[in-house]
Amino acid sequence: MKLLVTGASGLLGISLALEAMREHEVIGVDRGKLKSPPFQVLRADLLQPDALESVIEAAAPEGIVNCAALANLDVCEQYPDQAKALNTDVPGELARICAEKNIKLVHISTDAVFDGKKTEPYTETDQPNPLGVYSQTKLNGEWAVQAVNPQATIARVNFFGWSLSGKHSLGEFFVNHLRAGDSVNGFTDVVFCPIFVGHTARLLLALLENNLCGLYHVVGSEAISKYQFGVEIARKFGLDERLIQPRSVEGSGLTARRSPHLWLSTHKLSTDLGGEIPPFSTGLAEFYTQFQQGYPQKIRSYQQP
Ligand SMILES: NC(=O)c1ccc[n+]([C@@H]2O[C@H](COP(=O)([O-])OP(=O)(O)OC[C@H]3O[C@@H](n4cnc5c(N)ncnc54)[C@H](OP(=O)(O)O)[C@@H]3O)[C@@H](O)[C@H]2O)c1
Repeated sequence: MKLLVTGASGLLGISLALEAMREHEVIGVDRGKLKSPPFQVLRADLLQPDALESVIEAAAPEGIVNCAALANLDVCEQYPDQAKALNTDVPGELARICAEKNIKLVHISTDAVFDGKKTEPYTETDQPNPLGVYSQTKLNGEWAVQAVNPQATIARVNFFGWSLSGKHSLGEFFVNHLRAGDSVNGFTDVVFCPIFVGHTARLLLALLENNLCGLYHVVGSEAISKYQFGVEIARKFGLDERLIQPRSVEGSGLTARRSPHLWLSTHKLSTDLGGEIPPFSTGLAEFYTQFQQGYPQKIRSYQQP
């Protein structure tokens, strides 16, 4: 399949593009951050008028995975218009073009559409209740896509892995600080379902290849606190877990409100794909193996100096 990946310089976008290259012809969309990655790149700022039409015309893809977003919660609070443009308006327009041209679309959303007050796993039929600009604009993006393209796949994700900048994901945060001997906070009252980004990429491709449409929770199958996540990383990497201070998120000084308990059910995903979601321990092992093999340096070499 000829696959267009927007946000190809992002944590998910680059991982997905590299994974998809094994089976598909990949074209990434980038604003100029990438330097000679092993896949073709089209340069575009998706907020420019007609940019979407132009890249789609140039690439003529059969499938698109939309990984472009304004994904920093605090920046979204500061620039709500930009958040709306990228997280809501661009996905809606992209979905409209895909429906018109019969291109399969996988749009990426977030686990944070929920307020995190439920103590049981959230299913795809549960009512979202976003707490901030990021999550509200992402939920509006889901609705904008669904309104014009019911055949699109919408994946609510949360992942960890190695990024171009080397400091984007929570996994990198713990590795970088613990290796430097820094003391860090780990929230004991924020729960999520982390999954290794390589596994996210494979699951998203499986949804695409199996032509599954609609809403899916594409997260890890186990819910753990951010503190426990840090501890697991420390143990895997042989770092000092005592540097991680167990703390409450209350009073932590973060600008955007965080949903406390993002335990999402992956039952629909595993049922429809007919297989288990890779366990957290397997993803953590792959994250560590990549580290040992110099993968973080390798993908950083794809970044413009
Ligand atoms: N990270 C997580 O665990 C997490 C959790 C929940 C949901 N998600 C969702 O997963 C998706 C990917 O997230 P991520 O962590 O990979 O994000 P990221 O690393 O911040 O990547 C975002 C991508 O969007 C691109 N982009 C931003 N503005 C653009 C514009 N005007 N034109 C073209 N491209 C633009 C960025 O390009 P530049 O590099 O040029 O800025 C970057 O490639 C997003 O939809 C996000 O909401 C992520």
